[in-house]
Amino acid sequence: MMWHFFSPKIFYGEGALAALENIIGKKCFIVTDNVIEELGFLKILTDTLMKYGKEFSVFKDVIPDPHEEDVMKGKDDCIKYAPDLIIALGGGSVMDTAKVIWAMYEYPNYTLDDINFNNPELFNFANKAKFIAIPSTSGTGSETTWAAIISQYINNVWRKGSFAHESLVPTYAILDPIFPKGMPQKLTIDTAFDALAHSLEGYISAWRNEFSNALIPKAIELIFKYLPIAFEDGNNIEARDYLHQAASMAGIAFSNSQVHIVHAMGHSFAAVFPKPHGSLVGLFLPYVLQYCLNAPGETNESILLYSGLAKKLGWANWDDMDKKAANKVVEKIKELQKMVKFTTNLKEMGINGDDFEKNLSALISLCFQDPSGAMAPRSPTKDDFTRLFTYAYEGKDIDF
Ligand SMILES: [Fe+2]
Repeated sequence: MMWHFFSPKIFYGEGALAALENIIGKKCFIVTDNVIEELGFLKILTDTLMKYGKEFSVFKDVIPDPHEEDVMKGKDDCIKYAPDLIIALGGGSVMDTAKVIWAMYEYPNYTLDDINFNNPELFNFANKAKFIAIPSTSGTGSETTWAAIISQYINNVWRKGSFAHESLVPTYAILDPIFPKGMPQKLTIDTAFDALAHSLEGYISAWRNEFSNALIPKAIELIFKYLPIAFEDGNNIEARDYLHQAASMAGIAFSNSQVHIVHAMGHSFAAVFPKPHGSLVGLFLPYVLQYCLNAPGETNESILLYSGLAKKLGWANWDDMDKKAANKVVEKIKELQKMVKFTTNLKEMGINGDDFEKNLSALISLCFQDPSGAMAPRSPTKDDFTRLFTYAYEGKDIDF
C-alpha cells in the first residue's frame, strides 16, 4: 500500500543558526512574540540575519493559543512586506501562526477553513516564500508537523481548530540549543513530557509506520537520558541539544503516525481548565497507556509493540513475557515523573472536586469531538472516558 512520510530539512546542534547563511532568500518576515524578544532571542536572530546581509521585518504580536484575528493581522503585515522567507522563532503558538500566515501569503483570499487536507490547490505552494521554523522549546514538534492549531470564535466560545495540509510542513527546521537553554525548569519538564506523549502515542497509533517506528525509540531514549540532566542543570548544553533533537524526532514521527487518546483528553481538559499542554498530556499518559494495554481480545497489539519497545530500550529482558515487558513502559514513565517532580493526578494539580464533577460530561463530549481520538488502538466509550478522567483525578491505576 502506498504510504507517505513528510519531514522538513533539518539543521541541528550548537551553532545551527548559521545555516541561515546558505538558505536562499533576502527578505525575511519574522513571526515571534514579546517573550522571545524580552529573552534577547529575537536579537540573536536579527543579528545573524544582518551578518548574512538579509533584510527583515518583525511581527511579534503572537499570543499563546493564537486566535484567528491575530493571525489575520500577521497575514496583512506579511503581504505588505512581501518576503521571500518567513521565519518563525518561538514555541508552538508562534510556529502555528506562522504556518497559517505562510499559506495565506501564498493564497491571500483564503479563510482558515480553506486550509484542509482536501484542498488540491495547496499542493502548488511555497512559490512566494519558503518557511523556516526555529523552535524555542523542546516539545511541541510544530517545527516538523503539517498542522496549525488556531482558535476561532464560534457560537460565543473560542474553539481550537486544527488546520492541516501536507504542504504546511516547514521547508526548514533549525534546532539550535541556544534557544531552549533559556527555558525555566517547569517548562522544560512539561515540554519534554509532551514529546514523550507524542512518541508513546505515535508508537501504538493506527497510522504507525516503519519510519515513525524507527524514530520513536531514539526520541524516548534521549528524553529519558537527558531530561533528568536538564532538570538538574538547565545550562547543560549537551542535554538541551539532545532534548531539542528528541522533540523534533518525536514531532516528525507523530506528525506521520498521529497521536490519540492522551491528546484528545489533554485538549479537552485544557478547554475547560486552562493548564499547560505538556502538564496535561504528561499526566494522562500513564493512565491511557494502561487502558490501551488492558484492551480485551486475543491479541493486543499495544502489548506486543510496547513489549518490543521495552526490550529494545533495555527496560525488560528479552525472555520476559510480553505483558510484563509492556508494563515496564508505564513503570518507567512513572519513575521519570517522580524523578522530575511531575504532577501525576488532577487533584494534586489543584482542580477542585466539585468543578471537576460539574464539567465531566462536557470534557467527555469534547473528547469525542477531538479528531485525535480516531487513531486510538482502543476506542474509549463514554463510560471509559468517565473512568479515565476519574482515575486520573484520584491518581488510581487503570484496572479496566
Ligand atoms: Fe502535544
